[in-house]
Amino acid sequence: MKRIGVLTSGGDAPGMNACLRAVVRMALYNDLEIMGIKRGYAGLIEGKLFPMTMRSVSNIIQRGGTILETARSQEFTTPEGRKMAALKLGEANVEGLIVIGGDGSFRGAHDLSVEWYTPVIGVPATIDNDIYGSDYTIGYDTAVNTALESIDRIRDTAAAHERIFLVEVMGREAGFIALEVGIGGGAEEIIIPEIKTDLPAICKRLTEGKEKGKTSAIVVIAEGDEAGGAFQIAEKIKASIGVDFRVVVLGHIQRGGRPTARDRVLASRLGAAAVKTLTKGEKDRMVGVVNGRLVLTPLTDSWEKKKELDRGLHDLASILAK
Ligand code: F6P
Repeated sequence: MKRIGVLTSGGDAPGMNACLRAVVRMALYNDLEIMGIKRGYAGLIEGKLFPMTMRSVSNIIQRGGTILETARSQEFTTPEGRKMAALKLGEANVEGLIVIGGDGSFRGAHDLSVEWYTPVIGVPATIDNDIYGSDYTIGYDTAVNTALESIDRIRDTAAAHERIFLVEVMGREAGFIALEVGIGGGAEEIIIPEIKTDLPAICKRLTEGKEKGKTSAIVVIAEGDEAGGAFQIAEKIKASIGVDFRVVVLGHIQRGGRPTARDRVLASRLGAAAVKTLTKGEKDRMVGVVNGRLVLTPLTDSWEKKKELDRGLHDLASILAK
């Protein structure tokens, strides 16, 4: 293998740049040429490939977003789109591809590898942490810390006014962010898709908390919960116990910003491992970290198998918030 390519795909995650830096520098260290691809699969289909050097990735380890930019490409979900992508890789003599992204990006990577025999290695990067095969995904730790900072600020104003706040965090269909933010922020209630929501019980506990002298309450809600978004849940609780709420939807602030040390280290390890994995002739796999060790997982497992969150933490949060 003489030349490989790298792209970032799907929602951006803090630490993607740190990962890109590791990929580029590890490739060059191993005497491989490395081509950057702009705007994910969309850019690949358009032939937006360019050579990267050691200096292309200078001073980016601390930056959020992705210097390669990213996209969610509809065209790449079609066989014609993937054919065009394979053609562009061939024209540029790219013999292996590293995809930094989430499960949607890995589905496309797998299809490309099956249909066009392209050796592809995935690196899990999404704030949602919902990918099987790695205990943590790049960007998750930063998103949790960003949301936590907001929760701390909300607690100040909640306590000053003796108010209840409903705070919605991201996570698509997974409650990883909400659970960790809820525990770290001392939330009174945590509503996540993985655990059935018992709204009457939540209302009862909120009322009891007030009677026991609590001056504020924070309910953290994962955006994908079946009970609805924060505004809908607020209306339901208000109708039940008649208390006024404030609702905060944290949204995309969780996606931006400087990656934490943990994310930078994870990104550096996984980026370097992805290059080494490609050079060993592996393909259609994802690199991840399980119990602190680097592991390889078939790309298909990354979305077909479900990563479980620790339900015991939900119980713990509830006991500690009494
Ligand atoms: O997958 C990351 C994520 O931020 C999810 O938490 C969220 O549901 C989604 O992306 C938002 O997507 P978009 O940036 O396209 O609005």
